[in-house]
Amino acid sequence: MSDRSVHWEAVYTTKAENEVSWFQENPATSLRLISDAKAAADSAIIDIGGGASRLVDALVARGFRSLAVLDISAAALETARTRLGPKSADVDWITADVTKWTPARSYDVWHDRAAFHFLTEAADRSAYIDRLKAAVAPRGQVIIGTFAPDGPEKCSGLPVTRHDAKSLADALGGEFELADNFVEAHRTPWGAIQRFQFSRFRRL
Ligand SMILES: C[S@@+](CC[C@H](N)C(=O)[O-])C[C@H]1O[C@@H](n2cnc3c(N)ncnc32)[C@H](O)[C@@H]1O
Repeated sequence: MSDRSVHWEAVYTTKAENEVSWFQENPATSLRLISDAKAAADSAIIDIGGGASRLVDALVARGFRSLAVLDISAAALETARTRLGPKSADVDWITADVTKWTPARSYDVWHDRAAFHFLTEAADRSAYIDRLKAAVAPRGQVIIGTFAPDGPEKCSGLPVTRHDAKSLADALGGEFELADNFVEAHRTPWGAIQRFQFSRFRRL
């Protein structure tokens, strides 16, 4: 196991859902951005670094039928799977490091809340973007949430690279057009405020 996967397996096998800073009972911003991306019930949507997030539950409840969740931690995906129960059978659960993954199909919507920001090395960011470009369909949409430039310097005890719309646009390159961008204050389960920034891009 890589250091990265050891870290995340330890997090998800020792902490309860609401003992992690990124927990959200209701992932309202992600749902709004996916709706703004004009995702239809049969649109293929992948949540990158989805962990044990409740986003997949909310998407299933809204009738989305082609869902995938990718995470480096098998334990995180198992938590989400168990919570969803029989409905989890319709979701594609992918245990992989996104920087080393080979996408087997294309997706209409790529969603990432707080996974890309862990890639502090240029080579890892570039490997991520290569996978994204291989996986996102023509005219597909990309939603990325990271800590904002004035957000925390660490997440889950690991250093992060903070982003704004320009640094994300530069990473994605010219074939992606910025459609939306805003900063949002996330309140952790213990009441701390973390400034996130969300961007939505359209593939041209
Ligand atoms: C801060 S958590 C956010 C989880 C989820 N997106 C949410 O909003 O609740 C970051 C997630 O990214 C996953 N992760 C970190 N690095 C990864 C990588 N290289 N490949 C795939 N998943 C990764 C972690 O296991 C963890 O579930």
